[in-house]
Amino acid sequence: MSSDSDSFQRSSDTFRDLLRWQVDAGADEAIGEVAINRYAIAAVPTSPQPPPPESRAAPAAPRPAVVTAPEAARRTAPAEADDGRGLAASARTLDELEKALNAFKGCALKETATNTVFGDGNPEARIMLVGEAPGADEDRLGRPFVGVSGQLLDRMLACIQLDRQSVYITNVVYWRPPGNRKPTAAELSACLPFIERHIELVSPEILVLVGGTPTSALLARKEGIMKLRGRWFQYQSPGMPHPIPTIPTYHPAFLLRQASQKRMAWRDLLAIREKIDGLDAQT
Ligand code: URA
Repeated sequence: MSSDSDSFQRSSDTFRDLLRWQVDAGADEAIGEVAINRYAIAAVPTSPQPPPPESRAAPAAPRPAVVTAPEAARRTAPAEADDGRGLAASARTLDELEKALNAFKGCALKETATNTVFGDGNPEARIMLVGEAPGADEDRLGRPFVGVSGQLLDRMLACIQLDRQSVYITNVVYWRPPGNRKPTAAELSACLPFIERHIELVSPEILVLVGGTPTSALLARKEGIMKLRGRWFQYQSPGMPHPIPTIPTYHPAFLLRQASQKRMAWRDLLAIREKIDGLDAQT
């Protein structure tokens, strides 16, 4: 016969497994102030109920259209977008830009994030890396690329004699999307004025776009990362005096899943090293 402590142990194991399953499935944020009892909602009868007399003649209310991500970006309220553009443009230093981001209310991700993940490394560096968005570790610590992908990124940089003192790192989105989902087009467009200003203020000599999301957000190209990685582009925003040589490469999270692609990332790293050496030779 099992003891009370055995059965207590079994149920706490079950609850822990259930919780882990939810976290793995992406349900890792409490996004409402008040818990919703979904069993009570399910208990409401689902058979069709006659409408109240006064609404019988009224036409059925249209269901809200499903907004796809690119459509959502186009529908970003102009006031909200202006808000971000004005705030970002008024920043004359990185400190001011960080303050402007802290004052910005145009991106709902801020509501669920623990920290604004602004940047890390050396703001005077000649090389700037731009990733996608913070993950759970970055959100907790408030620094970009500090989790498992960050550790791989550090090892990749070390292969070409770079480290956090010789690069500056940020993301195109400053808050963690719940469950580590990809940022939507609306979230990307809300953050765009800030990352553009961020690049203008750091003013690097080389820009490295880490993954498909920053590549499509900043280069506005239709091709995917597989086609774009390892090629040099010129990135320029309206506030920049001259374009910056820019190279997209694979995201370390992708390389952790697809180890066979590491050899392509290695080529990109060599191309970056060669570009740095070329710039050094000119100075
Ligand atoms: N992935 C990113 O793109 N950025 C981070 O900061 C961490 C993981």
